Amino acid sequence: MNILSVESSCDETSVSIIKDGKEILSNVVLSQIDIHKQYGGVVPEIASREHIKGITMVFEEAIQIAGITRKDIDLVAVTKGPGLIGSLLIGINAAKAFAFANDIEISGVHHIAGHIYANAISKDLEFPLVCLVVSGGHTELILMKEHYSFEKLGETMDDAVGEAYDKVARTVGLGYPGGPVVDRLAKEGKPSYKMPDISLGNTYNFSFSGIKSHVINLVHNINQRNEEVNIPDLCASFQETVSEVLVNKSIKAIAEYNAKMFMIAGGVAANKGLRKKIEERINNVKVVVPEFKYCTDNAAMIGVAGYYQYLSKQQTDDMKLNGKSRLNLE
Ligand code: KG4
Ligand code: ZN
Repeated sequence: MNILSVESSCDETSVSIIKDGKEILSNVVLSQIDIHKQYGGVVPEIASREHIKGITMVFEEAIQIAGITRKDIDLVAVTKGPGLIGSLLIGINAAKAFAFANDIEISGVHHIAGHIYANAISKDLEFPLVCLVVSGGHTELILMKEHYSFEKLGETMDDAVGEAYDKVARTVGLGYPGGPVVDRLAKEGKPSYKMPDISLGNTYNFSFSGIKSHVINLVHNINQRNEEVNIPDLCASFQETVSEVLVNKSIKAIAEYNAKMFMIAGGVAANKGLRKKIEERINNVKVVVPEFKYCTDNAAMIGVAGYYQYLSKQQTDDMKLNGKSRLNLE
């Protein structure tokens, strides 16, 4: 089964062709990062305009690289949200037009399901599993008891972890996106700055706005004293506190739900400090991390999620025919 998938929720225009949910025949990603960099973050209006400019070309390139024709495509999968509405609309309308013109079924995929299913490209998922979703817009702990069933155990009460990374980077002038630079500098520094307690007690919820404000105030105070911020140490202190709380809550969820597998997903899943801590601390279950190229937004992950969504919908229909109860897919 060949799926053509489309992702345009933020600042990447991407189209991919996936065979049987595993084989990536093509994954074309047109990134706008260099354009948004000069503004210190994504400008929604500019993002929409760039998607319009690139989308047809990205479609054509993805089909050409895959070496297939339109007739070989069985399903179109497109990110339906969450994301920037103007950006989403470009991908959704292009996908709808393509599906309509070629008489192909179309299916909307949740962006976070895509990030989670980036892990299924290289590994077969084993249930129950716990997935830590860490992206620019989301921070969630998800329990999956079977394919395409997502139970939210906890989430951020305020900022997403990627957002906090980007803000810290901006405060010390490291540019956008800040996560990768903070990650790189953290490796060179020591966690010598005191950070606030962000554990939120025993819950599975997170909060990152407190540590973000703390870093901003700390930097202002140091500047006012005409002293210099040790940027690598600041990055190391921030990263240590953040990754510690992410890993601690993951360990608690793995134990409570007897998980067989633990995964991470989303842009911050590329974080080397987080990956190292997971490797050191989580060794009683299978650990899956997505390949770096599938951590940030891309259409391949949407195609893989679309495949499993399609299979579980079919299963639901079969169960309906057998008179059994419906699965909860939302
Ligand atoms: O998942 P993503 O592409 O976008 C959303 O769906 O939100 O994630 C983008 C986020 C940005 O905040 C970026 O700074 C962060 O992922 N990021 C990282 C790293 N690479 C990307 N954060 C920390 N360490 C990294 N190595
Ligand atoms: Zn994303």
